[in-house]
Amino acid sequence: MIDDLWYKNAVIYCLSVETFMDANGDGVGDFQGLTRRLDYLHGLGVSAVWLMPFQKSPQRDDGYDVSDYYAIDPRYGTLGDFVEFTHGAKQRGLRVLIDLVVNHTSIDHPWFQEARRDPASKYRDWYVWSKKKPKNADEGMVFPGVQKTTWTYDELAKAYYFHRFYEHQPDLNTSNPEVQAEILKIMGFWIQLGVSGFRVDAVPFIIGTKGPDVTTPKEQFDMLRTFREFMQWRKGDSIVLAEANVLPETDMEYFGRDGDRMHMMFNFQVNQNLFYALASADTRPLVKAMKATKSRPATAQWGQFLRNHDELDLGRLEEEQRQAVFAAFGPEKHMQLYDRGIRRRLAPMLGGDQRRLELACSLQFTLPGTPVIRYGDEIGMGDDLDLPERNCARTPMQWSGEPQGGFTRSDAPVLPVISGGPWGYEHLNAAVQRRDPESLLNWTERIIRMRKEVPEVGWGDFAVITTRDPAVLVMRYDWRNNAVLFVHNLAGTPREVAFATGIDGEHGRLLVDLLGDDHLEVDETGRHRLVIEGFGYRWYRVGGLDYLLRRSEIDSRPDTRAGRSGG
Ligand code: NOJ
Repeated sequence: MIDDLWYKNAVIYCLSVETFMDANGDGVGDFQGLTRRLDYLHGLGVSAVWLMPFQKSPQRDDGYDVSDYYAIDPRYGTLGDFVEFTHGAKQRGLRVLIDLVVNHTSIDHPWFQEARRDPASKYRDWYVWSKKKPKNADEGMVFPGVQKTTWTYDELAKAYYFHRFYEHQPDLNTSNPEVQAEILKIMGFWIQLGVSGFRVDAVPFIIGTKGPDVTTPKEQFDMLRTFREFMQWRKGDSIVLAEANVLPETDMEYFGRDGDRMHMMFNFQVNQNLFYALASADTRPLVKAMKATKSRPATAQWGQFLRNHDELDLGRLEEEQRQAVFAAFGPEKHMQLYDRGIRRRLAPMLGGDQRRLELACSLQFTLPGTPVIRYGDEIGMGDDLDLPERNCARTPMQWSGEPQGGFTRSDAPVLPVISGGPWGYEHLNAAVQRRDPESLLNWTERIIRMRKEVPEVGWGDFAVITTRDPAVLVMRYDWRNNAVLFVHNLAGTPREVAFATGIDGEHGRLLVDLLGDDHLEVDETGRHRLVIEGFGYRWYRVGGLDYLLRRSEIDSRPDTRAGRSGG
């Protein structure tokens, strides 16, 4: 059924049309602006772009409140502009994924308006109602502190409606076969317009049973199979990337034991432990999370991310671990959100230290799966903590030192462009970094290129090689008789490590440095010994005999280090 597993070795770039590039000068990013920036994305080397919601919406939750699934929000352009964009992407070999937000609609959606007005309307049963206030109305809020309840009274309907998220986002009754059919229709529509799949919002809530008497929602996993089948009948290489922050025990239910449900899922378990590892220089819980999420069907894939457009959710860590991450990366109350996370961007959390940013990104790129990066992180953009909730990390892309960072000609951008101070567009922007070979932008471009050349990470099996130092993580990947090996030092001080690759014979003797010229030969004890600088990282290919034979040739080459800062 699947005719291409492109997502197994890809790099996905997430962006919001609203804040990427404004072509018409009204202060809001648009499809024409994004289309002009396709060469930038192509140059960066990403394989796919994931667009956050751009359908018609009153924008009370940054587009995650859709009022028409078949229309572009006029602020971003027209359907024609969208098709021009997907065409331009295709010309450059870039795939397009889009958000699919079907757990709920906006209250402004005509379906909801009709449903509340007319109890006999077919749309009444598209939502979830209760005559009386359900007992658990004050439980299960996703945005604690901001959201007061999950059931709100509607005067017109004379009933309470259920909303897992904000009260302006009534949940669709996804058990209703008509609603399910509509979801497929929405997918079919966008697939026809050239997208390669969907990042599906809030999957556990879509498939969970809903109603006033439901205390523990039951997942209807079959729904996921229906989505996949439909998509692949329409277009064999389209995928579903699920947002499902669930426990490792249930992962296989989401992927499907026969690989017949979600193609990809974000690895929230690894993400949270990765931040703990960065905060504490203790990689053991991260290794545990990697092992707990190791099994997946051959065609399934993890999406590995650092930060996304939401808060960094630390809800799955142990209390002590969570406090350690708060202390390191978000010590002040206004940096935290919803009693569980940190709302800052990556670069400010890591103090803008390029060595540390490279380390974090290198780790992300070498975790089992496909990296999903967020616009602006390639230049180390900052945040604006004066903006409410998650908006602080959603400010416009900083293209240049021109007014408004080159994002818009308007002096009233949709969200303020970060200006002044260490994160201001005046000196932190893509144009400046392009000219500097050692910049984070150029480093990111190089690491993306190299990541695509090590398909072992996306396709292969990993093994963690034990060292005595919990600050140092050594991972090996094997695929089709090739092996690669990665070393990361999460501590800020140099470490000496010794390890055995586990590959016997001549083949495992030499580790060929993929980012520099520090090739590593086995010592007399049969191990590889390395002194690695603070926040250092190494990517090696486990060399074969041919490398040993060409050894002298390698040695005599001038120093061509690939710009490893601190290395
Ligand atoms: C998850 C999205 O990532 C978030 O931004 C949004 O607010 C909720 N789902 C509701 O759609």
